[in-house]
Amino acid sequence: MIRVNPHYQKLQASYLFADIAQRVRAFQQRRPDAELIRLGIGDVTEPLPPACVTAFHAAVDDLTRTESFRGYGPEQGYGFLREAIARHDFQARGAQIDADEIFVSDGAKCDVGNFQELFATDIRVAIPDPVYPVYVDTNVMAGRTGAVVHERYEGLVYLPCTADNGYVPQIPDAPVDLAYLCSPNNPTGATMTRGELQTWVDWARAHRALILFDAAYEAFIRDDALPHSIYEIPGAREVAIEFRSYSKTAGFTGVRCAYTVVPRDCMAWQAGGEAVALHALWNRRHTTKFNGVSYPVQRAAEAVYTPEGQQQVRALTDGYLRNAQAIRAGLQALGLPCTGGDNSPYIWVDTGRDAWEFFDLLLEKAAVVCTPGAGFGRCGQHHVRISAFNSYANVKAAMQRIAQALA
Ligand code: MLT
Repeated sequence: MIRVNPHYQKLQASYLFADIAQRVRAFQQRRPDAELIRLGIGDVTEPLPPACVTAFHAAVDDLTRTESFRGYGPEQGYGFLREAIARHDFQARGAQIDADEIFVSDGAKCDVGNFQELFATDIRVAIPDPVYPVYVDTNVMAGRTGAVVHERYEGLVYLPCTADNGYVPQIPDAPVDLAYLCSPNNPTGATMTRGELQTWVDWARAHRALILFDAAYEAFIRDDALPHSIYEIPGAREVAIEFRSYSKTAGFTGVRCAYTVVPRDCMAWQAGGEAVALHALWNRRHTTKFNGVSYPVQRAAEAVYTPEGQQQVRALTDGYLRNAQAIRAGLQALGLPCTGGDNSPYIWVDTGRDAWEFFDLLLEKAAVVCTPGAGFGRCGQHHVRISAFNSYANVKAAMQRIAQALA
């Protein structure tokens, strides 16, 4: 008899975005004439930067000629991309990261979900609340939690992020071995300052803990005082893994390319106290379970770092940030407190009422899709997340419709 992994039965019925998609489909069946504006899932709408497209095409052409054909590439990614990443994303910002500490992959969601495999089942895990659901669900699947009680899994340490703490997770009171941080944050759009990140790094060093730092939205940071990488913080090389993605930076959600940084100094410990380098463990996992990102996709990602690529990516993210400003201003004018949207593409809105009720109201009365904050955790109960990933015209139209719906 083939038995299922019992931990899967603890999971909430479906993944948040699948739930939302189902409600939206039902609405469309009832109201086929309604012109829906989607500000829900953070999926990009603008085309790829031309520099990436040119490099993508040229790399496909390489595969058509015997002399430039390539089969399997290195599982960790081609040197040309890893070197460009190390130079531009880290060394240029004073962060000491080498090319061989970078593992190119097909998505930050997969990497951040898979990384916990390297750790024992009985480690103690801290999760911000609200949170990107992947951090929670992958730990549930791995058997690190009990059942859900009052919308929270037993066995996890939750770090409430509320208006009182500026939506920034605070150091846990309880003992913790692994903490997930995300800045700029999904879903709240809040960003962590150097000082706040330094406090976390110092805590991790003092407790032999590890931080999984999700920086998938760093390209939206405009405030020069804010760190883009955790490795800009002294001491972080020993206690932090960082996840990055081209999805939101360069419109790659359908192309698929991301990377994870595993510094050689980062350790975990055996039961007897012997240190094990996470770089070696992740390399072992990556080479066993993954065959690398396709050559044309890596060439397209490399083009992000050319002067034209940099300028085009900036224009792309500027466009989404302009949307974010319009959303934030529109909601604030309606008297709804908001955070995020200035260094992030997400706006976190305190709706003052049940999140799913507000979601349904926007859907039914404005044909606008948002994401109910309750899906990100108990602290999101009275919030919704509005995403800036759409055209400016649609965002303006959505804000008008929302104003009418709430009038
Ligand atoms: C979101 O809407 O939170 C994002 O699409 C998540 C993701 O990038 O997987």
